[in-house]
Amino acid sequence: MQHLKVWDPVVRLFHWALVAGFLANAVFTKPGKLTHQWVGYAVAGLIAVRLIWGLVGTRHARFADFPPSVTGAIVQMRDMVTGRRHVHVGHSPLGAWMIYNLLLTMIAISISGYMQTTVSFFGVKWVESAHEFFVNWAEISIVLHVAAVIVETRRLRVNLAKAMITGYKDITAPQEPITCNPSAKTYLQEVLRSSH
Ligand code: HEM
Ligand code: HEM
Repeated sequence: MQHLKVWDPVVRLFHWALVAGFLANAVFTKPGKLTHQWVGYAVAGLIAVRLIWGLVGTRHARFADFPPSVTGAIVQMRDMVTGRRHVHVGHSPLGAWMIYNLLLTMIAISISGYMQTTVSFFGVKWVESAHEFFVNWAEISIVLHVAAVIVETRRLRVNLAKAMITGYKDITAPQEPITCNPSAKTYLQEVLRSSH
């Protein structure tokens, strides 16, 4: 068994603060009230910190460690169908796509929310609809995100949610953990090597 340090405290704090902030605004705060706006700004601030951390943070926090890769996503889906077990140390390719989707959606929610507080866009229907649309899209994505975490936790026998709390992944044999490399070619080579 390998006990690997994966997520630094910034990533973990960011994640659970984002969960709390999003849930607060989606369920508890009153839309249009000041609390809703301040929680919304806090979420936007978290995203800003994460974007910077994605450039200067620790290894698996960097965007370079989990680039959007179509090849990687196809390989992972094939693994899911065929039952081949490839544990990624950092984010998996499908996880990476979901993360970029969630980050972009949070930005869209923040911008369309802020616009409703400005004189020019206050009460403008399409801005209200855009805010609502992006919140709905985030909710659908989150359901998929959590479902994927559960499915992958069972398939790979690595408790992914626990890793997002403790920062460590416990990876059991027989497979050597792999990383989601920047180049699709290197990624494929690594996958092929690890399957032999
Ligand atoms: C995590 C981020 C956010 C979430 C989950 C969220 C969620 C929501 C929801 C569910 C609504 C009601 C939509 C409807 O059914 O009409 C709403 C409305 C609204 N939100 Fe947000 N929001 C977020 C961020 C923001 C931000 C950053 C601002 C502004 C700074 C903002 C300002 C507003 C305003 C002004 C409304 C319209 C209220 C009204 O109709 O009187 N929101 N938001
Ligand atoms: C509001 C709900 C949620 C949002 C917006 C959200 C968003 C995100 C984001 C942005 C990341 C990327 C983290 C980073 O690299 O900085 C992430 C990763 C992750 N989230 Fe969530 N998340 C939510 C709920 C949850 C829940 C409830 C769980 C636990 C079941 C969870 C488990 C994870 C795990 C395990 C990862 C790492 C995935 C991997 O191993 O590649 N998330 N989430």
